[in-house]
Amino acid sequence: MNLTLQPASKLEGEVTVPGDKSISHRAAIFGAIASGTTTIHNFLRAGDTRSTLACLKQLGAQISDDGEVITIQGGVLQPQDQTLDCGNSGTTMRLMMGILAGREGRSTLVGDASLSKRPMDRVRIPLEKMGAQISGIGEKNTPPLSISGGGLTGIEYSSPVASAQIKSAILLAGLCADGKTSVIEPSLSRDHTEQMLRGFGVEVRGDGLRVEVSRSELTGTEVRVPGDVSSAAFFWCAAALRPGWKVRVNGVGLNPTRTGVLDVLREMGAIIEIENQSESGGELRGDVSVTGAALRSTRIDGALIPRLIDELPILALVATQCAGETVIADARELRVKESDRIAILSCELRKLGANIEEREDGMIISGPTKLAGATVTSPHGDHRIAMTLMCAGLISSGETIVENADAVQSSFPKFIELLNSIRQ
Ligand code: S3P
Repeated sequence: MNLTLQPASKLEGEVTVPGDKSISHRAAIFGAIASGTTTIHNFLRAGDTRSTLACLKQLGAQISDDGEVITIQGGVLQPQDQTLDCGNSGTTMRLMMGILAGREGRSTLVGDASLSKRPMDRVRIPLEKMGAQISGIGEKNTPPLSISGGGLTGIEYSSPVASAQIKSAILLAGLCADGKTSVIEPSLSRDHTEQMLRGFGVEVRGDGLRVEVSRSELTGTEVRVPGDVSSAAFFWCAAALRPGWKVRVNGVGLNPTRTGVLDVLREMGAIIEIENQSESGGELRGDVSVTGAALRSTRIDGALIPRLIDELPILALVATQCAGETVIADARELRVKESDRIAILSCELRKLGANIEEREDGMIISGPTKLAGATVTSPHGDHRIAMTLMCAGLISSGETIVENADAVQSSFPKFIELLNSIRQ
């Protein structure tokens, strides 16, 4: 599907974004391995999390959805030569690898064309060290792959990249391993796994960059999923694009390992207001308004990168409207997301007139630049590139056509509807 956008005269209003994708995946997976009943409120209903539910059902979890609450009767997962389709979702595949590593039996994990190009050695290597057998993996360490689990021994693993998917896969395997399993990260990635495991009754030890678990049983619980900060980021960043534009997002997750986007917007000069903060299951949430103002460039690198890794596409668009040179560095990971986001963003935003220099580990964006509509594309069905290009259409003169617009289905099926509800 192609989406045609005209420039907006103003962005103003209030939205509620769907449930957090990372937290929804984890709630479903932990519910499926826990004894008893787990109920999940505000679960994200989108392509990626549907893939997770489908894999868990195939493995024997009983999952029902009354449209409001997802209910899981867990504790029975049984790999029996199933082929589990993870669709477009890297989180599904990598977390499921951790789950399957700990269980007797064999299953095969497959994904769509984009996921079939993504590296799995980052999870394969530590899981094999623990004793899992992983085969069939392609020459470039890409899916499909088969995994036979059980009989694991805990390890201490220093991860070469700050990745919550790697950390989570190892910790999930560690719940079924003899001895202690610990992960040490180079900088802190999102900590939803650690927070939520505690809610399911698991003792998670650690401080700073080191986290440790031992063999544990999970007990079903109630999870209330906050709004997804990575979805909210599109509205906040769109509001920041022009002085006086203002969008408020209600009930959004504000876990400090995820809020780098707000720090950068503030640094660039946008006005941020946070109200009604509360906490549930170790996760902060609140209502956040962003108002656009004159923007200046900044540097985005180091320990900040994992705190906003999924927001770099939309921040790159904001950078085109900042006075000066915005440098994004230490973000090599962007090349192995749903697409090579450094290459694709540089190419597509340039078609609209942006001034971007591509670097191996990031981009240098000079601004402010007046953007002009063109036909742009989100190849390989990358949802975050598609949503970034739609936001670009709001400030590009003339007509912007975004190809492959249905890529939004992966994380945010109602994005276009919500964007239309706040634009003039
Ligand atoms: C995720 C972790 C991040 C993020 C992805 C979701 C998660 O990936 O980019 O969208 O839910 O654990 P990495 O762990 O590869 O950094």
